Amino acid sequence: MPKASPPPLTDSELSAVRLAIEERRSLPGALLPILHAIQDCLGWVPAEAVALIAEALNQSRAEIHGVISFYHHFRTVPPGSVVVQVCRAESCQARGGVALELHARRSLGVDWHETTADGAVTLEPVYCLGNCACSPAIRVGNEILGRISPARFDGIIAGLRQEETA
Ligand code: FES
Repeated sequence: MPKASPPPLTDSELSAVRLAIEERRSLPGALLPILHAIQDCLGWVPAEAVALIAEALNQSRAEIHGVISFYHHFRTVPPGSVVVQVCRAESCQARGGVALELHARRSLGVDWHETTADGAVTLEPVYCLGNCACSPAIRVGNEILGRISPARFDGIIAGLRQEETA
């Protein structure tokens, strides 16, 4: 089944995009700060934003898309309700991270950068959360958690889903 297109931006989202562009367009290398500001605000970089950025910076949409696709950090579709990042850097990998990654993808039924069918969780890789002493580590929204076993991961996801339906 083809994926539904994201809904058009609301007026307030469009205003936020315009403001992010206006405040940064004169910076040297303005594109990355603009993209970061938009994603920080909306959670993703919509096609409407790409068109506005291209116009403001006098670049083509293809050039903007090229930069967005180069950096995996940027999302071109809205994320799920919660973004869960699993650390794939060395310390975590050496302490159960590899098994945790496999488990996370299998139990959620998604690959990296994908969102579960119920829209609850987007799974992303990350390369060191600065929590190496408590490897393996994940970030759930803005919270960094350590010593994550597959069972603990499942408990955290179940808790998220419960909060969603509460
Ligand atoms: S290597 Fe995973 S938190 Fe540093």
